[in-house]
Amino acid sequence: MMFEFVIWLTLLLMTKPSDTKPLRSEIKNEIHFDSNITFEKRGLHEEAPLFYIEDRHPAEFFYSDPYYPSPLGGRIDHVWQKAYDKARKIVEKMSITEKVNLTTGTGWGSGPCIGNTGGVPRLGIPNLCLQDGPNGVRYTDYVTNFPSGLAAGTTFNKELIHQRGKAIGKEHKAKGVHMVLGPVVGPIGLKAAGGRNWESFGADPYLQGIAGAATVEGLQQQGVLSIVRHFIGNEQEHFRQVGEWDDNGWDKLDESISSNIGDRAMHEIYLWPFADVIRSGAGGIMCSYNQVNNTYACENSYLLNYLLKEELGFQGFVVSDWGAQHTGVYSSLSGLDMTMPGEIFDDWLTGKSYWGPLLTRAVYNGTIPQQRLNDMVTRIIAPWFAIETLKLPSEDNIPNFSSWTYHTYSQKFPYQHFGPIVEQNFHQNARSTFSEEVALNVAREAIVLLKNDGHNLPVDVGDGIKRILIAGVGAGPDSKGFDCKDQRCTDGVLTSGWGSAAVNNPYVITPYEAISERARSLGMVVDFSNENWNLDHVSELADYADLSIVVVNSDGGEGFIEVDNNYGDRNNFSLWHNGDNLIKHISERCRKTIVVVNAIGPVNMEKWIDNENVVGVIYMPPLGQFVGKALMEIIFGDVNPSGKLPFTIAKKKSHYVPIVDDLSKNNDPQDNFDRDIYIDYRFFDKHNIKPRFEFGFGLSYTKFELSNLNILEINSPTEYLPYPEDYLPIYRTIEDDVCDPEDALFPHEEFDPVPGFIYPYLYNEDVRSLPDEDDFDYPKGYNTYFKTTPPLSGGFGGNPALWEILFSVKAKVKNIGKYKGGYVGQLYIESPSTLVSSPAKVLRGFDKVFLEPGESKSIHFDILHRDLSIWDVESQQWIIQTGTYKVYIASSSRRVELCGEIDIGI
Ligand code: NOJ
Repeated sequence: MMFEFVIWLTLLLMTKPSDTKPLRSEIKNEIHFDSNITFEKRGLHEEAPLFYIEDRHPAEFFYSDPYYPSPLGGRIDHVWQKAYDKARKIVEKMSITEKVNLTTGTGWGSGPCIGNTGGVPRLGIPNLCLQDGPNGVRYTDYVTNFPSGLAAGTTFNKELIHQRGKAIGKEHKAKGVHMVLGPVVGPIGLKAAGGRNWESFGADPYLQGIAGAATVEGLQQQGVLSIVRHFIGNEQEHFRQVGEWDDNGWDKLDESISSNIGDRAMHEIYLWPFADVIRSGAGGIMCSYNQVNNTYACENSYLLNYLLKEELGFQGFVVSDWGAQHTGVYSSLSGLDMTMPGEIFDDWLTGKSYWGPLLTRAVYNGTIPQQRLNDMVTRIIAPWFAIETLKLPSEDNIPNFSSWTYHTYSQKFPYQHFGPIVEQNFHQNARSTFSEEVALNVAREAIVLLKNDGHNLPVDVGDGIKRILIAGVGAGPDSKGFDCKDQRCTDGVLTSGWGSAAVNNPYVITPYEAISERARSLGMVVDFSNENWNLDHVSELADYADLSIVVVNSDGGEGFIEVDNNYGDRNNFSLWHNGDNLIKHISERCRKTIVVVNAIGPVNMEKWIDNENVVGVIYMPPLGQFVGKALMEIIFGDVNPSGKLPFTIAKKKSHYVPIVDDLSKNNDPQDNFDRDIYIDYRFFDKHNIKPRFEFGFGLSYTKFELSNLNILEINSPTEYLPYPEDYLPIYRTIEDDVCDPEDALFPHEEFDPVPGFIYPYLYNEDVRSLPDEDDFDYPKGYNTYFKTTPPLSGGFGGNPALWEILFSVKAKVKNIGKYKGGYVGQLYIESPSTLVSSPAKVLRGFDKVFLEPGESKSIHFDILHRDLSIWDVESQQWIIQTGTYKVYIASSSRRVELCGEIDIGI
C-alpha cells in the first residue's frame, strides 16, 4: 500500500505543471575577482543531508523503488523509430530460442571474444563478439596499447579524445570485433585509491561526459558498437563480487557492496556522463557488479527501467558486467537485455546460466512476457540500423583472432581444450600510422608539469647539463617483459593499470630508452640505475650527475588481480618500490632532480615536494606504449606540456574518500556516498582545504594572458524544462509466438553440445516440468502498464531542452612567452544558493588552443540549460534557480583568470 502511494506521489510530482516562462538575465563581463580569496562560502551545517543513522542498517534508508515494466524501445526520435521498425522485422522472424540466443552469452571462453552471444545462422546473424576494451583490443597481437582513459581526460583536448576513440575503433574493426566494451565513465573517481580510475577520464562528471561522448562517437564512426561501462556507482573494487572476494580472502562476504547514492548526487554526478554518452548514440550500456541502494545494479528496476530507459531515454541494450547478473526473471523484468559471459559468476565452464534455457523456459511458461523478450532482442539489433556508420554483423564479418590462445592453430575451443584444430589467429595487423600518431599525441598532451622551479625544464645543453642520471624501476622495462597477463607487472614503466582494460604492447619505448638516446645524441654522459633498494649505489651516481631524472610509480587495477596486497584498489598513496627514499637519496646529492610520477592516480608527494633540489615534478597517467618517447619530448622541450590534472592531489590521505575494506560491521558492506555532490575539488573548495595540486592544474613552458571575456545570451533561461514531445508510436508490433515447448527441444540430431557452452534449448524433463506463471513470486510493484513520456524525458540523455544553449562565452588568450604551446581554458560556474546550496565551482566547459609565441586566439564555451540546473529532489526536476551565477574562466579549478556574472531573475 505504502509503496503504491509512493509511486502515485512520484508520478503526481513528476506531472506537476512546469513554469517555462522565460526568465530575465543580466550579464556583467569581467567583474573584478581576487583569485586569492577562499572558496569557502557555506558552513558545515549546510552539508549534504545525513543519509543514515549510525546504529541502523543503511538499507533502511537506502533502497531502490521498483519501476515496471521495462520501457519499450523505439519511441524516441524518428531515426531510431525507423531503426526499430527494421529491427522488429528481423526479430519477428526469429523463434523464441533464436531470440534467447542473442540475449545470452555462450559462456566464458566459448567463442573467440571476451563475450560472445549465440547467433541466428538461419537469418545470417553470427555470434556477436564483445571485446575489451577501452584502451585498445585486449588479448591479441598487432594492436596498439593506447594511452589510458585517464590520459585522454588529462589532455583536456576534445578533438584528440575523439581521434583516440576513432583509432581504437579502427583497430577493433580490423580484428573483426563487433562491440567494444568501452569507454568507461564509471568509476567517476569518487575515491582516489579506486583501482580502476585510470580507465575513465577523471574525477569530474562534466569531463567524463564530454570525453565519454567524444569516444563513443569515434568508436562508432569506425563501425563498432560502443558499450559504455559501468552503470553505476562502481567506485571501488573491494567487494564487487562475492566469489571473487572469497578468493581474495574475505570469506565472510555475503553480498556485493551496496553503493548508497542520494538522488541529487545520482543526477548531478553519477548519471551525468551517461546522459552524454546516450546522447552521442551509444548502442550499449554495461550494468555494474555492485548493488545500488541495496539492489544489484543489473536487476535494479529503478536504475535500468526508470533512470536509464525512461528518464535518459536510452534506446540501446543493457548488458551485464561479467557475472553481475544475480537472478533470471527479475533481471529481465528489471531491464537487463543481455547477460555476459552467459554463466553464473565464477561458475565458468559449467554451462549454468540464469538465462539461456531458463530464459526460454520463463518465456514458454509465460512468466516473462514475450513482449519483454522481443524488446530485449530488438534493443540489441536496433542500434545497428540507427547509427549510420554501423552495420548489423554478417557471417563474413567475424573475429580473426582468439582471446584464448596466441597460436596460429589450435583447438576450436582452446579454453575448453575441445574441438578440431583450426586456424585461430590470422595475426591481422590492426595498427596504422593514424593510430600510432594518435597514441603518441595523446601521450604527449597527457603529461602534466607540476613544478618547474628555476626553469630547469626543458633540459638544454647550454645550461651546462653534461651528465645525467636516469633512475628508478619505472624508467625501464619490467624484468618479466612488457606483457605480463593483463599488465599485472609493476616493476617497470607502467603503460597501463592492470585488469580487463589492459592491452598487450606490440613494443614499448621506455623512458630510459628514449631519454638516453636523446641525451647521447647531445653528447651527454648517461648513467642508469633501476636498483631502487640499492641506495648507496644510486647516491653515488647522483653525485656525478648534473641532472637526475627519477621515475617512480604507483599502480592499481581491477579487483580480480592482487599485486603486493593491493586488491585492485590501492592500499595507500605512497610511491611503490621505495620511491620516496630513492628521491630522498638522489636529491640529497643532486641539486637538479626531476621527479616523474607514473601513477594511476594521485600519490602522496609531501615528503619531497618542497625539497629545493627537487626542481621539477611531472605527473604522467598510464600513457601506453609510447610513454618514454612522449616523456623525452617534454623533458627536452620538443613538446611543451599542456596536460591538466584530472583529479586533485591532496596533502593528506584523510582528505580522500576511503575504500570500504572492512567486513567487521556487516557482511553486506554498505558504502554510503556521503560526499554527496562534493567530490574531488568541490570538497576541497567547500571546506577550504588547500590541496597540494588542484584539479585542472598544470604548468607550461610559456605564459598565457587572458582578456576580453564576453558572455552572450543565446536563449532565455527558464526555471523548469518544457514538456517533451509524447513518445512516438510503435508502428510494428511483434505477435506472440504460438508457444509449443517441443519447438525448443535441444536439436540433438543437428549437432553435439560443446562442453560448458550455453545453449537456449530445453530438455525433455524441462518441458515436462514447466511451472505455471502463477507460481512465480513477482517482484514488489511489478505491473505491465506502459507509461506516457515522463516530463524529464523525451530525448537522448533526458529532456531535449537540457541541451539548449543559453549563453555563449568567449575570451581571448595570448601566448606571451617564448615557447609555442597549448592552453586549456576551463569554465567553472558558481550557482546561487536560492533553493539549495551548491559547490563553489563546477566545471562546465573546457577549450584547448595551441599558440605560437605572441599569437592570440579565442576560446569558446557554450553554457547549456543543464549546465545551470540543479537537480531538485523534491519536485524531481532540473531547475534553474534565480539569482547570480558567477562565470569563471580559469587555468585550473583554483586559478581564476576572468570572472563574469549572469544575474537571472523574474
Ligand atoms: C569485468 C570488468 O568489470 C568489465 O569491465 C569487463 O568488460 C569484463 N570483466 C569483461 O572482461
